[in-house]
Amino acid sequence: MAHFLPVCAAWLREKRIAFIITENRRNGKMIVYGSHYGTAKWYAEKLGEKLGEEVVSVESFRGAKEPVVFVSGLYAGGFKGAKTFQKRIDGTKFTLVSCGLADPKEEKTRREIERNARAAFKDWDGPLFCVRGAIDYRRLSVLHRVMMWMMKTMIVKKGLEAENEAFLATYGSRISFCSEDQLDPIVAYRQKNERF
Ligand SMILES: Cc1cc2nc3c(=O)[nH]c(=O)nc-3n(C[C@H](O)[C@H](O)[C@H](O)COP(=O)(O)O)c2cc1C
Repeated sequence: MAHFLPVCAAWLREKRIAFIITENRRNGKMIVYGSHYGTAKWYAEKLGEKLGEEVVSVESFRGAKEPVVFVSGLYAGGFKGAKTFQKRIDGTKFTLVSCGLADPKEEKTRREIERNARAAFKDWDGPLFCVRGAIDYRRLSVLHRVMMWMMKTMIVKKGLEAENEAFLATYGSRISFCSEDQLDPIVAYRQKNERF
C-alpha cells in the first residue's frame, strides 16, 4: 500500500500533464485532414510543416478554438470526413482545401466543388482552395473500384465530355498530380488572414 499510493499519484500527475499539453495544442491553429489513401494527409502534413501548425486526422479531431484548415479528399463530389468534421468544428471558422483528381483549373470543376462544399458545410463562409491529388487503382477498396467502374460506364454511355477526358485517360492506372507548390496560395492566405 505504501508503494501503491505514490505510484498512483505519479500516474495521475502524468495524465494531468498530458491532458494540459493536449488542450494547449488544441487551442492553437491546426490542420485537419480527411483522407482514405493518404493524398490529403500528405498535403496536410506539408501545410503543417510550412505553417508550423499541428496536423490531426479528422477521426482524432476534437474541436478547436482557433481557425482551422480542413484538407479533404473528394469522393463522388463528397468530402471525406465532412460529417465528423462538421460535428466537431462547432462554429469555428475554417478554410476548406479539396483534394481531387479533376483539374480545378477547369472553371466547371471548380464551380462544382464549390457547390458541393456549400451543400456539405452549411454555415461555412471561409475560403476554398483546390489541390490536385493522386490515385492508384491497385490500392482501391472493392467498393471504390466498383464506384469508379460505374462512373466509367456512365461516362462512356453518356458520351465523352471534355471534363471527363482526364478521368478516362487515368482510369485503371497509377497517377499523381500532387505538388507542394499548390499549397503556396494557402500558406500566403493563412499568414495574411487572422480570421481564417
Ligand atoms: C470512388 C472514388 C470517387 C472519387 N470521386 C472524385 C470526385 O468526385 N472528384 C474528384 O476530383 N476526384 C475524385 N476521386 C479521386 C480522389 O479524390 C483522389 O484520388 C484523392 O487524391 C484522394 O484523396 P486521399 O488519398 O486523401 O483519400 C475519387 C476517387 C475514388 C476512388
